[in-house]
Amino acid sequence: MRSLIDILDLSVEEIDDLIATACDIIDNPDKYAEACKRKKLATLFFEPSTRTRLSFEAAMLELGGSVIGFSAANNSSAAKGESVADTVKTISCYADIIAMRHPKEGAALVAANNASIPVINAGDGGHCHPTQTLADLFTIYREKGRLSDLTVGFCGDLKFGRTVHSLINALSRYAGIHIVLISPEELKLPSYVKKDVLQKNGIPYTQTTDLEGALPELDILYMTRVQRERFFNEEDYLRLKDSYILDLKKLEKAKSDLCVMHPLPRVNEISVAVDDDPRACYFKQVLGGKYMRMALILKLLKEASV
Ligand code: CP
Repeated sequence: MRSLIDILDLSVEEIDDLIATACDIIDNPDKYAEACKRKKLATLFFEPSTRTRLSFEAAMLELGGSVIGFSAANNSSAAKGESVADTVKTISCYADIIAMRHPKEGAALVAANNASIPVINAGDGGHCHPTQTLADLFTIYREKGRLSDLTVGFCGDLKFGRTVHSLINALSRYAGIHIVLISPEELKLPSYVKKDVLQKNGIPYTQTTDLEGALPELDILYMTRVQRERFFNEEDYLRLKDSYILDLKKLEKAKSDLCVMHPLPRVNEISVAVDDDPRACYFKQVLGGKYMRMALILKLLKEASV
C-alpha cells in the first residue's frame, strides 16, 4: 500500500505530475468535482493544526468525497492509552485514506506499517512535513516557473522546523540550488541534515546569523517560526523567539522579485505590513497546499485501487 511519509517517497517526476494535476484542478475544477465520490478521508490529528487539517478536509470535499476524524489526541481513544497502530487498524475499517499528524517522530511510519489504506504524514514531530513541502514546491514553481537555479534562504528555527528539513531534502534533487542558512547559533540546521542531504548531494550552502546581509542575494526567503512546542526550556524560547523579524525596511535590500515564504502559523517573524508587498507569497502557499493535497489524494487513491 503506497503511503507518503517523507517527501523523498515521491520521485521528481511524480512531483512534476502532482504540480501538473494541481494546475489542471485550478483550471478545470468541475472535472474533479466528483472524482472521490463515496470515498472517505480520515484526518487523525494528535497535534494542533489549522492549515494542514482544514486544507486536507477542503481538498477531499472539493473532490466530492467526505471526511471523518479528530482534531486533538484528547478527542480520541489515544487519551485512554490506545496505540497509533491500533488506531489506524481501526480507522482502516471506516475510511479509504488517512492524513495523520503526531508529535512523535516516526509515528507516521508506524501508522503506514499498520494501516491497510494509504497514510499521508501531515507532520511527525520535528521530523518532516511532506505535504507542506508539496505546497512550498508548488508555490516556488508558480512564482518562479522553475524549481532549479535558485538561491534559497531559510531563516529562523532551522533546528526544530520540520518544514525546513523536508524542503531542503526536496530541493537537493534539483540542479543549481544554493542554500543560505540564517539562524541563531542555538537553532542551526542539524548536522545530520547538512551531512546526509546538503553535503551528500553536493549542494553549496552557507551559514550566517545575519538576515540583512544575506537578503540581497536571495531568490526565495523561507521564514520560520521558533517552535515553542519543541523547546525544553521556556527561557530559551523567550530569548530566541524574536531573533528575526522581516519588515518593509529590511525588504528594501532584497531583490524586486524575491519570493517571501512561510509555512505559517506566523507569530512575529514577518511584520503584518509585509503582507501587502507583492513579494509576500505565504497566503499563496496556503491555497496551493489545498490543490497539491487534492492531487495527492487522487494519486494515492488511484494507486490503492489497482
Ligand atoms: N503549515 C502548517 O503545518 O500549518 P498548521 O500547523 O496550521 O497545519
